[in-house]
Amino acid sequence: MIEVQTAHTADLDPAILRAARTLLDDVFEGDMSDHDWEHSLGGVHALAWEGDELVAHAAVVQRRLMHRGRALRAGYVEGVGVRADRRRRGHGAAVMDVLERVVRGAYDLGALGATDEAAAFYAARGWELWQGPTSALTPTGTTRTEQEDGSIYVLPVAVPLDLSGELTCDWRDGDVW
Ligand SMILES: CC(C)(COP(=O)(O)OP(=O)(O)OC[C@H]1O[C@@H](n2cnc3c(N)ncnc32)[C@H](O)[C@@H]1OP(=O)(O)O)[C@@H](O)C(=O)NCCC(=O)NCCS
Repeated sequence: MIEVQTAHTADLDPAILRAARTLLDDVFEGDMSDHDWEHSLGGVHALAWEGDELVAHAAVVQRRLMHRGRALRAGYVEGVGVRADRRRRGHGAAVMDVLERVVRGAYDLGALGATDEAAAFYAARGWELWQGPTSALTPTGTTRTEQEDGSIYVLPVAVPLDLSGELTCDWRDGDVW
């Protein structure tokens, strides 16, 4: 029996946040940096529990994405992971259902940077691959992020998007997308 918990970071016990970090460390096999984890904080988490075992996590945080002269309010999805021995059972879909409701209800668009492994998962849910150039608003100006081109997905909500246009993210430590 799977139960999906939804909570803001502020309402999660430190032990639950530690369990989420541990799950993501396992899922990404040590490739989850402190910055990556920090990027998942400060918004809404969806956690799938099998009894007292955490089997899936995802979070959505607010960021600004610049597009066609506007600073759009984006629900940016981070920290998506399902325990390796529990995949293809709908747990990823269950946590994304929660976050997509949040995105549709509160943001101009959803956005995320997908791993190669997860691209088909997001595409099957209606997320669209950004086709145009990506960039970041850094402390020294706007800088192209070519290495991220072809891995950014958006969920259109309230604002018309030109998927072949430029998309610029706000600044943060660690990976900017
Ligand atoms: C991507 C991930 C979150 C998917 O979670 P999941 O619980 O296995 O996904 P679901 O069972 O909810 O899959 C729902 C649908 O998505 C699609 N899908 C999921 N995983 C897929 C895969 N590896 N390849 C192709 N399609 C996939 C399928 O259409 C699937 O439906 P189906 O099983 O009926 O065919 C999981 O594989 C994972 O944690 N991967 C490693 C970490 C990672 O890459 N996270 C994403 C960071 S951006």
